[in-house]
Order: sequence, then structure tokens, then C-alpha cells
Amino acid sequence: MKPRILVTGGTGYIGSHTVVELQKAGYPVVIIDNLSNSNAEVLDGIERITGIRPDFVEADCTDMTAVRALFDKYTGIKGIINFAASKAVGESMQKPVLYYRNNLNTLMNLLDVMAERDVKGIVFSSSCTVYGEPDVNPVTEQSPIKKATSPYGNTKQISEEIITDVINAGAPFKSVILRYFNPVGAHPSAEIGELPNGVPQNLIPFLTQTAIGIRKELSVFGNDYNTPDGSCIRDYIDVVDLAKAHVIAVERMLDDKSPEKIEIFNLGTGNGLSVLELINTFETATGVKVPHKIVGRRAGDIEKVWANPKHANEVLGWKAETPIADTMRSAWAWQCKLRERGIM
Ligand code: NAD
Ligand code: WQD
Repeated sequence: MKPRILVTGGTGYIGSHTVVELQKAGYPVVIIDNLSNSNAEVLDGIERITGIRPDFVEADCTDMTAVRALFDKYTGIKGIINFAASKAVGESMQKPVLYYRNNLNTLMNLLDVMAERDVKGIVFSSSCTVYGEPDVNPVTEQSPIKKATSPYGNTKQISEEIITDVINAGAPFKSVILRYFNPVGAHPSAEIGELPNGVPQNLIPFLTQTAIGIRKELSVFGNDYNTPDGSCIRDYIDVVDLAKAHVIAVERMLDDKSPEKIEIFNLGTGNGLSVLELINTFETATGVKVPHKIVGRRAGDIEKVWANPKHANEVLGWKAETPIADTMRSAWAWQCKLRERGIM
């Protein structure tokens, strides 16, 4: 029997896909989520895919009493994957305290409880946002960390520092910090996917909502960047590929395979795609047109960033495998499923 893994934010977008992969690998999972940006029906989707309903605790990770109660009830937790965080960049500019409190208190509670309850390791969801506008692409884990341009981005930088300080101070556990590039797509079964709240700020949910007619047209934010077609470039990584890396990371810590107490990995494909290329890929892959127009730049956008994933490829033995066309089809199938269910 494999040890139990606690997944915070496990009913969210990346968390739910990771729970599926953990269960497929034989790990019993307990989820803690306060449902601030997800809903409990996600558990049904996970169960339909894997045949196993994960244990679920509806609670807030900033509530240490609730976190300790979870550990009392679910014994033998040896690993934590911490997805729980507030993640909307724009909202973080309006409500910085909410972001600092939620993201940092969540992490600090988990680090405290790990020491109390003999948890061997924590996987932390960081972001390519820590690199800001890189001087050189692709970015490696050694690329400079730029001053954060939002409180959200700052919480990721501070979180990485907190983990480093706590471990360097002799904490009895390990950590793997994963810097995601742009996670997109959905589970190929269309049972789980991204559920954006309100008008989507991110490209793919806005694109699929436009394709299905919820939005009139997609605004492409700028075509005057220093890129081949003038639109911004990102590294779009399939969410299932991303989820699989978490299973490897957890295993690495539990099996003491990592020589270092803290490891950092970029999780991206290594390919940069422009906004216009992505729209084109979606249209070709699905046969569905996306009405779009070029508008001005969005304040704060990075011109281009993509990953050098060599470290993760070589050390974790992990590689992004899903062709982007398949990812676009899974994103579309998920959007169609939401329509079928009358959700959107
Ligand atoms: P998400 O909002 O879908 O999932 C986060 C989940 O955490 C939600 O279900 C939410 O209800 C829950 N949550 C938030 N605060 C909580 C708290 N205090 N206690 C308990 N539950 C709480 O987001 P996601 O896209 O799945 O992102 C997961 C993680 O990955 C986040 O830490 C995010 O910052 C990070 N990340 C996301 C992206 C991205 O583009 N999606 C990119 C880089 C990093
Ligand atoms: C992608 C590209 C937009 C919407 C954000 C966070 C980052 C990370 C990932 C968590 C950009 C363009 C978008 C639209 C568009 N999250 N776009 N029209 O900005 O790379 O990163 O999510 O850590 O921290 O900042 O992702 O999906 O918002 O945008 O043209 O309606 O699509 O300009 O070039 P971004 P995104």
C-alpha cells in the first residue's frame, strides 16, 4: 500500500488532474479545498475517471485547527502537494492582502504541520511568473528572478524563499518546487477541466468560450511585439502532462531519490507559441472558427517566455508529450461538455 498524499486545492484545475494521476499510480489521496474557486462536483468527475472517490475535507488551509483535525482523521500522510492558492493576477493588484494572507498562510501552516506529523515532502506550485520578462529564452532554473510585477507573483517568489529558509533551518522534510509555464487543456475524458469564474482572464478559456458563442470575439492583446507575428509568445503545457510530473516529484521525495533537500524544476514543453499561432492551431485541430480581433497590449504582459525543460527531462525523467493540437481538442471537448451539462 502506498502512503497517503494530501492534495491542497485538489478540486481545482491542476489539482484535480493530479489527483487522477496519483490515484492511477496507486496513491490514496485526501483533498483539502475550501471551494473558493472550484466545486465539489469535481469529485464526481475524478471518480468517473478512476473509479475511486478521493477523500475530501472542505476546509481552509489557513485554518490550522482544521488542518490539524485533518491529520488526526487521515493518518499516515507522507506527502503534500500544495495547489491551494488564489491565482488571479489582476485581482491580486486590487486585493493584495487577500493574496499574501491566503497564499503565504496556507504554505506556512503546511510547513508547520509537516514537522509536527512527520511528513516527508512537499511539492509546491510555483510559476514561470518568477522569471518576469526574461533577458534570454528559453529560461532555465538558473535564469534571474525578476522583481515581481503583481502581489500574486510576489507570493510565488516569497513562497519559494520561505520553503528554502525553512529547509535550510533544518526542517525534517524535503521540497520540490515546480515552476509551471502556461497550463492548458483538460482531461481527454472531458470529465474534469478548468472552470473559470466569471469572464476568463486567461487565453484558452476565453478562446473556447468565444468558439462556443458565449463571448462575441477574442481580443488578441497586441501584434506589435518583437516576435515573428507580433503577438506574445508562451509555453503552453498540457495539464495532464503537468499532473504526471507531480507524481514523479512526490515519489522522488518519498523514496529519498533526491540528493538535495530542495529541488526546482521548470515544467514546460520547451516550445514557444504565439497567440496567433495558438488560435490557428485550435481552429485547425477542431475545425471551429474563433472570431478574433487585434487590440492594444494588455498592461503588464510579458513579451515572450518559454522553458528550457532539460532539467526536468533529465532528472525527473519527465517530458511533455501531448501534441498541442490534442490539447486544443481536449480544451474544446471540455467546453462542449460544460455546455451539455448546462453549466456554460
Ligand atoms: P485553481 O484556482 O483551479 O485551484 C486552486 C484551488 O485551491 C481551488 O480549488 C480553490 O478553491 C482552492 N483554494 C484556494 N485557497 C484555498 C485555501 N486557503 N484553502 C483551501 N483551498 C483553497 O488554480 P489552478 O490553476 O489549479 O492552480 C493551482 C496552483 O498552481 C496555484 O497555486 C497556482 O498559483 C499555481 N499555478 C497556476 C498556473 C495556471 O496558469 N493555472 C500557473 C502557474 C502556477
Ligand atoms: C497568455 C497570452 C496574453 C487573454 C498568466 C499569469 C501567470 C501564470 C499563467 C500563474 C498572453 C494573451 C490572453 C486574451 C490574449 N499563472 N491573451 N487575449 O499572461 O501568460 O500568464 O497565467 O502563475 O502568472 O500572469 O497567461 O492566459 O492570461 O495569456 O491575447 O483574452 O494570451 O496577452 O500573451 P499569462 P494568459
